[in-house]
Amino acid sequence: MTDPDLGLGEGDRVEVVVEAPAHGGHCVARLDGRVLFVRHALPGERVTAEITEVHRTFVRADAIEIHEPSPDRVEPPCPYAHPGGCGGCDLQHVASDAQLRWKAAVVAEQLRRLAKTSFPVRVEALPNAGSPLLGWRSRVRYAVDAAGRAGLLQHRSHQVVPIDRCRIAHPAIQRLDLLSRQWPDDDAIEVTASTGGDLAVLTRPAGGGRLPEDDPADTASAAGRRKRLAGPDEVAEEAVGRRWSVPPEGFWQVHPAAADTLAAAVVELLRPAEGETAWDLYGGAGLFAAAVAAHTRARITLVESSPVGCAAARANLTDLPTVEVVEARVETALQRRRITGPVDLVVLDPPRAGAGARVVRGIAGARPRAVAYVACDPAALARDVGTFLGLGWRLTDLRAFDCFPMTQHVECVALLEPAGA
Ligand SMILES: C[S@@+](CC[C@H](N)C(=O)[O-])C[C@H]1O[C@@H](n2cnc3c(N)ncnc32)[C@H](O)[C@@H]1O
Repeated sequence: MTDPDLGLGEGDRVEVVVEAPAHGGHCVARLDGRVLFVRHALPGERVTAEITEVHRTFVRADAIEIHEPSPDRVEPPCPYAHPGGCGGCDLQHVASDAQLRWKAAVVAEQLRRLAKTSFPVRVEALPNAGSPLLGWRSRVRYAVDAAGRAGLLQHRSHQVVPIDRCRIAHPAIQRLDLLSRQWPDDDAIEVTASTGGDLAVLTRPAGGGRLPEDDPADTASAAGRRKRLAGPDEVAEEAVGRRWSVPPEGFWQVHPAAADTLAAAVVELLRPAEGETAWDLYGGAGLFAAAVAAHTRARITLVESSPVGCAAARANLTDLPTVEVVEARVETALQRRRITGPVDLVVLDPPRAGAGARVVRGIAGARPRAVAYVACDPAALARDVGTFLGLGWRLTDLRAFDCFPMTQHVECVALLEPAGA
């Protein structure tokens, strides 16, 4: 497709000066009034950008030549992180402290644009054994191409890039020989290296449906039939002072330090007191329910739509009789009054799309004292924060964590409180 105003199409090259980072792992640039989203670039750089996609209101491009590099530019540690290469990482060319600033700018900009509110944002790095930026990814889904080779996907594509190893994957995953083998009968290979020391390999037999794009922020929870190739049926995870047993196809935080870091932030922001009731919405195996229950010792209702997640929550929280697990979509549970207020505290941790206005209104209607919103997508968070603000609530605190180094992804925990609280 060719842009009718610019007269430019895919493969054409333009020279631009790159501006601020934007949501999605790229920076903004402008050419004759048209917005370009440029990957592999940094703010302030003058680059030659090759156009990769033309849309009605914007153009996507890759920086292929850097004429004036930013002081924040570094040599990518991964040889597959380049235009046309693996799409898993967006920020391999960005220095570690600049990655934190990049993500903080994106979260602040989304809040300004979508929630119409200014809030100072600082992104905190997570501890990791070895390198802070590499070797953290505890769940990897390799895609398999028509020739039976496993690899990771190109950016916004289902094209498989064969690799020798993924540098951000957990060292135990990098040591496996899965990528040198042929996989004629499979669409994908899913590997989990758990904090409890287990290693599990599942395969998805061919024909199980289209796979999602490669996304290091995604746990291996995409639906579909799987076969266990190696490792236990359930892997051990360690978080909030407990040992968990979770099926590798169920949701668990991907960075080894994320579960403890996020649970600690939720508790610090909510300050749960003995006797307070709570909801853990989009609760998964019950990480936040367990963290809050240790302080409240009162009724907690966990709502989770996946049967695998609910089974894990029931099995892992047997010592917490005050936790009730409701298998339902949050929107349905609220609408059909399977959960009803009043409630004192709410934790919600929705998937990438966010909770949406109906769920936010349902939460506000239960009149909690405080809400901790755990968010893996700053745009969805900002939209939902905007709904809370429109209902008279206040955004009173926000922590942000680099749970996905080298990628554009960032995890936030926002504290929302009703006006007058
Ligand atoms: C980001 S994960 C959070 C899980 C858990 N809070 C944790 O940190 O381990 C989101 C969870 O929401 C579940 N989910 C997705 N859509 C849902 C919906 N509409 N209603 C309820 N649960 C949903 C997913 O199965 C997943 O377990």
